[in-house]
Amino acid sequence: MSEYTITVIKNENPKSKPASDELKFGKYFTDHMFIQDYNMEKGWHNARIIPYQPVALDPAAMIFHYGQTVFEGLKAYRTKDNEIQLFRPNKNMERLNRSNDRICIPPIDEEFAIKAIKHLVKIDSDWIPAAEGTSLYIRPFIIATEPYLGVNPSATYQFIVILSPVGAYYESGINPVKIAVENNYVRAVKGGTGEAKTAGNYASSLKAQEVVAKEGYAQVLWLDGLEKKYIEEVGSMNVFFKIDGKVITPQLNGSILEGVTRNSVIEMLKHWDIPVVERKISMQEIYNAYESGKLEEAFGSGTAAVISPIGELAWGEKKIYINNGETGELSHKLYDTLTGIQYGKVEDPFGWIVKV
Ligand code: COI
Repeated sequence: MSEYTITVIKNENPKSKPASDELKFGKYFTDHMFIQDYNMEKGWHNARIIPYQPVALDPAAMIFHYGQTVFEGLKAYRTKDNEIQLFRPNKNMERLNRSNDRICIPPIDEEFAIKAIKHLVKIDSDWIPAAEGTSLYIRPFIIATEPYLGVNPSATYQFIVILSPVGAYYESGINPVKIAVENNYVRAVKGGTGEAKTAGNYASSLKAQEVVAKEGYAQVLWLDGLEKKYIEEVGSMNVFFKIDGKVITPQLNGSILEGVTRNSVIEMLKHWDIPVVERKISMQEIYNAYESGKLEEAFGSGTAAVISPIGELAWGEKKIYINNGETGELSHKLYDTLTGIQYGKVEDPFGWIVKV
């Protein structure tokens, strides 16, 4: 790792903080941000923590035209003993570099980035809320900054990290969400950018989400882009189904995002000797399991979404009601254990916690 040198300029005009019960997802931002530049001569350089402020870019900056950008999402948690901890930040930085590779952005120094994130979180630690279900969401992202309209990788970039105190991602809080299976649009195809955390995947999901939101659905469940048969993910979360005592999640195939929470769920299930398989699973199989009374639970997993039980799935005209619209026993156990580890309430047998 390169030597850890970073300039810090403190914000002399800190903002007032929102009350814990006002927190939604990603609406408020803290007093500082991390920023680092890249150019061909110096590589990544000039790491600094500065007052939170707008980013000034040339209107020709390539991020605006071709969307050459990647991002991550992780959280800092305040424990009951007032310690601050991160959850598997190394996984996020590894994935950031995989996304970088896919989008032709130069790799970051993962260890340096984790140190910088810890440093930033420490400086803004007063912003980490303490109320149940709240945390400090950390959003690292990289943008292409070269002013140029040709379609090729930018010669310059900025790596930025911002922080946002957050509550639950969904309006329904930790109550089960209603999801509509998307039959019209697709999110990603094999060979595309589905497994990279890049803005285009999210921009292209907005239309489908807008349509189903009018019918009261929180999100869409994406099917594979070729046959529109196999389940992929929800966009803000990976999905799991408990059928006849076994847990099934779509196997990673190049178009599904490799979620850190997804991996943690699989690890927890294995630790408890609950059968879990990663394989292709079709919507028809889910419907058949529902009709035969074998679909016991469904839930999503993600940093923002945590463990979000799914209470209803709409698949065209067909409606699938899961566990009477209530949170299932397994979803509950996973939620309690995961958040228990994250908030330092239960022991972390996996070595996932990194203290700030
Ligand atoms: C996260 O869970 O951190 C994500 O990046 C999902 C985002 C769409 C809110």
